[in-house]
Amino acid sequence: MFTKSLWNAYSGTTDFPSLQGDITVDTAIIGGGVTGISAACRLAGNGRKVAVLEALKVGGGTTGHSTGNLYVTVDHTLSALCSKYDPETAKRVVAARTHGLRVIEENVARYGLDCDFTPCDWYLYSDHVKSDGRVGNELQFAREAGLDVAEETGQLPFAYSRAMRLAGQAQFNPLRYVQALANAIQSDKCRIHEFTKAEAIEEKNGACIVQTRDGRVRAEHVLHATHTPKGIMLVQTLLGPYREYGIACRLKSELPRQGIFWGYTESGEKYSTRSFIRGRERFLIVVGQPHKVGQAQNNKQCLANLEKFAGRHFPVTEVVYRWGGQHYRPADMLPYIGRTDRGSNVFIATGYSTDGLVYGSLAGSILADLVAERTNPWTELFDPSRNQPLKAAKNFIKENVNVAGQYLKDLPGVADAADFSSVKAGEGKVVEVDRQKLAVYRTRSGQLMIRSAVCTHLSCIVNWNDAEETWDCPCHGSRFKLDGTVLEGPAIHALHKVEIRGDDVKTKHTQ
Ligand code: FES
Repeated sequence: MFTKSLWNAYSGTTDFPSLQGDITVDTAIIGGGVTGISAACRLAGNGRKVAVLEALKVGGGTTGHSTGNLYVTVDHTLSALCSKYDPETAKRVVAARTHGLRVIEENVARYGLDCDFTPCDWYLYSDHVKSDGRVGNELQFAREAGLDVAEETGQLPFAYSRAMRLAGQAQFNPLRYVQALANAIQSDKCRIHEFTKAEAIEEKNGACIVQTRDGRVRAEHVLHATHTPKGIMLVQTLLGPYREYGIACRLKSELPRQGIFWGYTESGEKYSTRSFIRGRERFLIVVGQPHKVGQAQNNKQCLANLEKFAGRHFPVTEVVYRWGGQHYRPADMLPYIGRTDRGSNVFIATGYSTDGLVYGSLAGSILADLVAERTNPWTELFDPSRNQPLKAAKNFIKENVNVAGQYLKDLPGVADAADFSSVKAGEGKVVEVDRQKLAVYRTRSGQLMIRSAVCTHLSCIVNWNDAEETWDCPCHGSRFKLDGTVLEGPAIHALHKVEIRGDDVKTKHTQ
């Protein structure tokens, strides 16, 4: 299936050189998405010498596959946050996210970024009385958090039984934003390098070295701005990796008014809907159908379900773009932004759930302040070393039992198939040969592409994603292209190449 995000279709491209040779900077930032570029913007503005190392293209990862919605509330709801913590914590989260949204607004104005930034309202509705209580709770807790909310009684693009409105939110094209911001801030002191993958990060005696294929970066501080940190870190046991899907459709009628519409359906599913207008182009976007990465039986069905939802509510003439995006749910509902360990000069920003555009912009400010040893009102709230065992316990256990279950797939005899002939053209399967698990894809012209199915992060067996035609790891969310190259997630190295001679299977380490 061909997948491409709407944002990719309506953005240009960047053209930053890859790193060649060794350099020394104050701060090395791994990842050129919204977190990395926001942090670079703030650090360079404070006079620090910065290098951003992006493995692919600026904004080409999660940022370019997100919703483009900007809001100060949170995906898992303020009422859930209040029940786990207290109204004061919810208030602080809202204040922090309001700062994140303001950072975007200010950058758009200051640098004149052409990114379709549009102020709008955010709505939450239920389409059935069964979910009315959820909307009512959210209204109450949003009020307590100091938000400008009201019960909605006017017309919405959906039939609803109860709805609320939060004023003063916004939408944009996230890829255009991050590309334009990167172009605006690049300089000799703020170097941005694309196709520059961090292959190893070493911290010794207070200095850090980031190794890439064609050069090394020596830095005082390193920021992991890769959505989830690269390599092996304890924080990965506190994160649940999820994949969610988006479609952009043309309608026979006018688009609904600008706004972010989150709806609870009678079946308990949640969908996010918005419109996108650029020049004469007009699209309706629908996002939803989350599942654990690498654990959906049928990824195409998730996209089909979005299309069904859109068709039920709007006169859709054509679905033009389809894509998937990733998010990491934190065990205690708060993202992890700050130092990896006390005394370390390596920093992380992860666990944004689906709220990453605003959290990423906020993380840029928090990390820049931590690096400069400035006080920041939210460092403590999001500190990765916070000790919240009771608040994190339920999700920690749930996610890690799930991960443990995935390792059982490495047992002999557990595979999708036992021979290559059962892999049809355009299909991928895990095939067991000579007790080795192989990720086998047959091209549409009949050729086999074979890689080891063992994830190079912590050795889980990858699964086939039939919608995006990728190999997805069900443990911590690493994803790989058909040729084994890392697309995202904590894995650094590609799936190993495989040589097959007769019954003999040999895997070859590849970068
Ligand atoms: Fe951790 Fe694959 S992402 S084992």
